[in-house]
Amino acid sequence: MKMRKPIIAGNWKMPKNRDEALQFIYNVNMNVPSREYVETAVCAQAPILRDLVKRQGDHLRIGAQNMHQKTEGAFTGEVSAAVLKNIGVTYVIIGHSERREHFYETDELVNQKLHQAFRHGLTPILCVGEPLEVREEGTTEEYVKKQVQKALKGLGDEQVRDLIVAYEPIWAIGTGKTASSEQAEETIAMIRKTLSTLYDGGVADAVRILYGGSVKTHNIEELLQEENIDGALVGGASLKTKDFLAMCETAQKLKA
Ligand code: PGA
Repeated sequence: MKMRKPIIAGNWKMPKNRDEALQFIYNVNMNVPSREYVETAVCAQAPILRDLVKRQGDHLRIGAQNMHQKTEGAFTGEVSAAVLKNIGVTYVIIGHSERREHFYETDELVNQKLHQAFRHGLTPILCVGEPLEVREEGTTEEYVKKQVQKALKGLGDEQVRDLIVAYEPIWAIGTGKTASSEQAEETIAMIRKTLSTLYDGGVADAVRILYGGSVKTHNIEELLQEENIDGALVGGASLKTKDFLAMCETAQKLKA
């Protein structure tokens, strides 16, 4: 019997300065579903994370959008897992396709970052997903499976049980072109199956796998009706309080 708590996580990227972000937190704090039923989070820019954590209230939690893979050292401009943990951050997005594409993050680097996040007690949200050419070629399964296998190298059952995976087809991110709920479910079920071949019984059933890529208030319901989709990683539509709350409520209605 599966018992996976749904998650709605906002990936704000660069929009929202400190004042706008604090206003958002103030507006949603009282209205997000209880953490007992749905996990909710927003992932913001590093310089404002501490202020957001201080105002996070009882249910909403704060995530980072990236971190460095090393514990310490001369890496000018980077943000460490230790400091994210120290300031009270809960989640960290790892391997978002924008980082893979614009900052040349490889599967090996993503793997190192996952190890580092677990070492410091952060909950990683691992992003995987194929570009349009791969989808059109019909090799999505192999592509995504390989991303998952490489990302998880060396991680143990106890770590992976706490991992959150976000399947985000690149062609659906910020394009308004969502994967159909069947396409999303098919790939997410394949990811779960891959996990079941790599880890002991129970782990694959425990891992929360989200869909991301143009999730909006009007399409989230259809996506969350799918058995293997445990929530959403939401970019653009997570910026508006009203939309974010509506998506959290849908998760509570359908999954909690
Ligand atoms: P989008 O972004 O919802 O704006 O498509 C999703 C993401 O990048 O995580």
